Amino acid sequence: ESPIRIGLLGAGTVGSQTARLLVEQKDELEARIGRPIELVGVACLNPDEVDFPWIDKSLLTSDTMKVATNADIVIELIGGTTVARTFVLAALNAGASVVTANKALLAKYGPEIYKAAEANGVDIYFEAAVGGAIPIVRPLRESLVGDRITSMLGIVNGTTNYILDEMTTKGLDFDVALKDAQAKGYAEADPTGDIEGYDAANKAAIMATLAFHTNVSIDDVTVEGITKITADDIAAATAEHKVVKLLAVVENGEAGVSARVYPALIDENHPLASVHGSFNAVFVKAEAADDLMFYGRGAGGAPTASAVVGDVVTEARHIASGCTGPSIPMYKNLPHAPINAS
Ligand code: HSE
Repeated sequence: ESPIRIGLLGAGTVGSQTARLLVEQKDELEARIGRPIELVGVACLNPDEVDFPWIDKSLLTSDTMKVATNADIVIELIGGTTVARTFVLAALNAGASVVTANKALLAKYGPEIYKAAEANGVDIYFEAAVGGAIPIVRPLRESLVGDRITSMLGIVNGTTNYILDEMTTKGLDFDVALKDAQAKGYAEADPTGDIEGYDAANKAAIMATLAFHTNVSIDDVTVEGITKITADDIAAATAEHKVVKLLAVVENGEAGVSARVYPALIDENHPLASVHGSFNAVFVKAEAADDLMFYGRGAGGAPTASAVVGDVVTEARHIASGCTGPSIPMYKNLPHAPINAS
C-alpha cells in the first residue's frame, strides 16, 4: 500500500521534535493508522545548519513550496503570519490537509484558511496552537460541541507563567526570568509577543472562536501584558495572599462575546494559583457539563510536538479509512453580539 506522504515545514524547536516522533515512533504510528507513513521532506531556511540525528539529511530542503504542495498531510511549524499563510493556503489548495501550531495565523486569517480547507475537501488541525500538549482544541471542536460554553479562563502562555512564577517564588528580576524561559525553549523567537500578551491573545481568539462557534479574531481581543509588573507588585500580592497570573478570559454573556488578556490577581487558594512554571491550564464553564479543567505543558518542543503528531495520526486515519474532509464546520459564522460589548 502506498505510504501517506507527510511534509514538514520548519525544523525549529517544535519541528525538530515532531520529526523525531514521526521517525522514532514510525512503526507504532503505522500500526495505529493502518497504513504506512513517510516523511517526504523537511523544509527550512538553512538546511546546512540543521543537524538532528533522526532527520535524514537528504530530506532537508529550502524549497518550502515544493514540500507544501507534494504531500497528503502538511505540517506547518514556521510560525508568523506572512510566509506561513502562503504555504498553508498552497498546501490546502494542492489537496493536502494541514496540521499547524500557528496560533497567530489562525487568529488573524482563520476564516480564509477554514474556507480554503472546505473548498478543497480537506481539513485543518491545530491542537498544538492552544495550550501546547494539552488536549483543548479537540474537546472544544468535538466532545463539547453539543453543549453551550459560557466562559473559559486560561493560563495559556508558558513564558509569562514561568516568569511570574520565578519572580514570585525566587524573587528573580523580570529580565533574568525571561532569559531563563528563552533558554528552556518556551518563548517565541521574538519574546515580545509572549510578554506583551499577544501570544495569549491569539490563543484567546481561537478559544472564543471554538467555544462560541463564531469567528473571533486577534483584533477583537483586548490585551495587556506583564511588562509593567514589578517586584513591588508581586510582593504586594503575596502580602495579600494572592498571586499574579496572566489570564485569557473569554465569555459569552448577555452583553455578547468578549475576549481579554490581562494580568490578574487571584487568590492563592484558587486552583489556577498552583499552575507553576511553564505549565498551562484552561477552565471551561459549560451549561450542561458544568466546570471542566485542562492542565499540562503549554510550551516546549516535545510537548507541543505530541499534539502535532496526534493531529497527524488523526488525519492519517481519516485518509486510511477514505473518510476525509472538514470534520466539524466550526468555521461557519453564526451571528453574534458585538465583541467586547460590555
Ligand atoms: N511562547 C509560547 C508560550 C509557546 O510561552 O506559551 C507556546 O505557544
